[in-house]
Amino acid sequence: MRLVTSPAEIQERALEYRARGLTVGLVPTMGWFHEGHLSLMRLAAKKADRVIVSLFVNPIQFGPNEDLDSYPYDLERDRRLAEETGVDILFAPEKQVMYPDGFSSSVTVSGLSSRLCGSSRPGHFDGVTTVVAKLFHLTVPHLAVFGEKDFQQLAVIRKMVDDLDFPVEILGHPIVREESGLAMSSRNTYLKSSEMPAALSLSEGIREAVKCVNGPGAESIDARQVKDLVRAIITAHRECEIDYVEVVDRSSLENCTEITENSLLVLAVKINNRIRLIDNSILKGS
Ligand code: PAF
Repeated sequence: MRLVTSPAEIQERALEYRARGLTVGLVPTMGWFHEGHLSLMRLAAKKADRVIVSLFVNPIQFGPNEDLDSYPYDLERDRRLAEETGVDILFAPEKQVMYPDGFSSSVTVSGLSSRLCGSSRPGHFDGVTTVVAKLFHLTVPHLAVFGEKDFQQLAVIRKMVDDLDFPVEILGHPIVREESGLAMSSRNTYLKSSEMPAALSLSEGIREAVKCVNGPGAESIDARQVKDLVRAIITAHRECEIDYVEVVDRSSLENCTEITENSLLVLAVKINNRIRLIDNSILKGS
């Protein structure tokens, strides 16, 4: 596996793959790899001839009081994990080469970006779409793989690709969970063991909601009842502060009142005002 830090070099190498008739799969990440990332890399390797993984803690997607400075980072550890997973190139640029002095462009997907996570993290998705657009230009991938845990990010990126005609196929990968049910996330590393029961209330809420809408009497259950049930499970932990608990349409992210095959339960919860966790699940039939 090759480590590349220069934008010019990654573009040259990616174009060279294409010139040789090879397909390129990109997995954009911010590092601190866990099984969730590794499964995105494996999917990319199954679908494309060459896999490029980007590792860049993108400063412009963090708000002023967020965890940019404490975001976990260990290039050597991630380099080893990517290599063991069969990645061809790990692209790990410095901030200064991605955003040199005078950088002044931004990609905005309006509408979709402003609700849910976008309303509590203003500007977050502009940071994501701007860096992903840059990564698409730098790595010219045929396909790119994103985790479904960040369901809104995936929807926003699909919309950007559609609106701006990027010739990239976007693949979502299902959430990978710990045995406990906790959705894997680099931010789980911030959790103290005393905070684990609170963190697990998200997946517990999802489990109970899925049970409820697929069980006896399910026809009469509406979105309001599902949200009340999940809120009660989460707020039983004093460490939890709910950012949102919503039932939305999986593609438009508009709120649903009725539960259908397309209804997605989406959650964002702050633990002890320090750690923001998100999770989601399709409700019917999952
Ligand atoms: O999901 C992430 O890790 C980031 O938001 C991404 C897509 C790599 C953009 O920085």
